[in-house]
Amino acid sequence: MTLAVSGTLMQTPAPDRLVVIDAVVEVDRAGTIAAVHDRASVAGRHALDAATERVDLDPGTFLMPGLVDLHIHAPQWPQLGTGLDLPLERWLFDYTFPLEARYVDTAFATTVWDDLVPSLLSMGTTTAVYYSSNHLEATTALAQACARHGQRALVGRVAMDHPEGTPEWYRDATATEGVEASAASIEAVAALGSPLVEPIITPRFTPACTGALLEGLGELAAATSVRVQTHCAESDWHCGYALDRFGAGDPAVLDRFGLMRPHTVLAHSDHLTADEMTLVAGRGAGVAHCPLSNAYFANAVFGARRALGAGVGVGLGSDIAGGARPGLLGVCQDAVTVSRMLEDGVDPSLGPSERGVPKSRIDTVTAFWLATAGGAAVLDLPVGLIEPGRQFDAIAVRADRPGGAIRLWDDIDDEARAFEKLVRLATADDISHVWVNGLCR
Ligand code: GUN
Ligand code: FE
Repeated sequence: MTLAVSGTLMQTPAPDRLVVIDAVVEVDRAGTIAAVHDRASVAGRHALDAATERVDLDPGTFLMPGLVDLHIHAPQWPQLGTGLDLPLERWLFDYTFPLEARYVDTAFATTVWDDLVPSLLSMGTTTAVYYSSNHLEATTALAQACARHGQRALVGRVAMDHPEGTPEWYRDATATEGVEASAASIEAVAALGSPLVEPIITPRFTPACTGALLEGLGELAAATSVRVQTHCAESDWHCGYALDRFGAGDPAVLDRFGLMRPHTVLAHSDHLTADEMTLVAGRGAGVAHCPLSNAYFANAVFGARRALGAGVGVGLGSDIAGGARPGLLGVCQDAVTVSRMLEDGVDPSLGPSERGVPKSRIDTVTAFWLATAGGAAVLDLPVGLIEPGRQFDAIAVRADRPGGAIRLWDDIDDEARAFEKLVRLATADDISHVWVNGLCR
C-alpha cells in the first residue's frame, strides 16, 4: 500500500526557519517518505493518482511533522494535574513512588497504558520517550501497548536501588538485580519485534541510584549500544545531592559512570554550567527541556537558547506528571513563555537591566523545531521533518473548527502568523489526523 497526502505543509528544518509549501507527500509501503512534490506539479498530481490511499486535506487544515516528546513518566498518568504542592524530593516519596509501586499489578498497568498511549497519540505525540516503573512485566506491557496502538516509542524500565533515595517498598533489591532486570527488559522489548518500539536504559537519577548500579548500567549501555535516559541537574536539591555523595556535579557523575553517551536523553538539565554544556555537547547527549515541570521542581528556567548556542542537542518533554500538560503543542507555548520570563526576569524590585538573562527568548518557530526535528536529532530517529528518507510521522491540524480558538483571517494572517496560531492554540480536538510510520491512527 502506498499513501499520498496533499495539503499545506508547515515545518521547521532549522531552529529559526519555517517552511510552508503546498505539497503532495508520497509515502512508500514501509512508511518512508519517498518524495515531497509541489502540489501544482505534474509529479505531484501523478503521485496522488498512483497512490493506493489518497488523503486530500481541506484548505484550512495543515500538515505538520508529528511531535516528539522526550520525557514522559507513563505510570504517573493517573496523577496528572495533581500533587504539585511539594518539592521534588517530597513529591517523589509522598505521591509518586506509592503510585508507581502499584504497577507490580500488570493488569492495572495495562489499563493505564491503554488509556495513556492513545490519548497522547490524539494530541499529536507520534514519538514518546517513556520512563515506565521498575517492574519488568509492566514495562514490557507498555512497549506492547505502544506497538498495539501504533506509537513510536522508547520504553525504559526504571532502575533505582539507593537505600536513602528510594523507599524500601519500591526499589531494586540490589545493584546487581537492577542491572539484570534492566538487561532483561531490553531483551523483552526487543523480542516484541516491533519496528516502532525500542528499549532505553533508565537510571532514575543519581540520588535514587548507588554507584554500583550506575556503573553496571553504564557497562550495559556500552555492551548493548542501547540509548540511556535519566534526569540531570534538575533542582538545587538534586545538584547538591550529587555533589555531596560523589564530590562532583551531576553531569560529571553521569559521565564517570559511562552514562553520558551519544543520544543519552538528559531530562531537565536546567542547572548546567557552561562547562557542563560543553561536556554534554561533546558526548553527543541531549536535553529534554521540560518547561512547565521546571516551574514547579527545578528552581530555575532552562536556558534553551544558550544551550543551542553551545551546541547541545535539545528537544521538548512534557514530563508527565511533573508537568501537568500532556500535549506537546501546549508545551511549545510553555517553552516560549518561560524563555520570555528568563529574558526579562521576574522580580520587579530589581531594575530592568539586572532582572533577567538577555537574549534568552525563543519564539514559536524554535519551540516547534525543538518539539519535532530537535527532539528527533537528540534521539537520532528519522522523524521530525517531512522529507524524503524519513518516516512519515505527521499530524494534520484544523484551523477552522467550530468551537475552537484558531481562526485565520484573510488579509490579516500570513503563513507565519497562521503557523504561530496553530502552535499556540491547537488542542487535541483540532488535530484531525495522526500518522505514524505512514499509518493513520
Ligand atoms: N527526578 C527523579 N524522579 C523524577 C520524576 O519522576 N519526575 C521529575 N520531574 N523528576 C524526577
Ligand atoms: Fe521526569
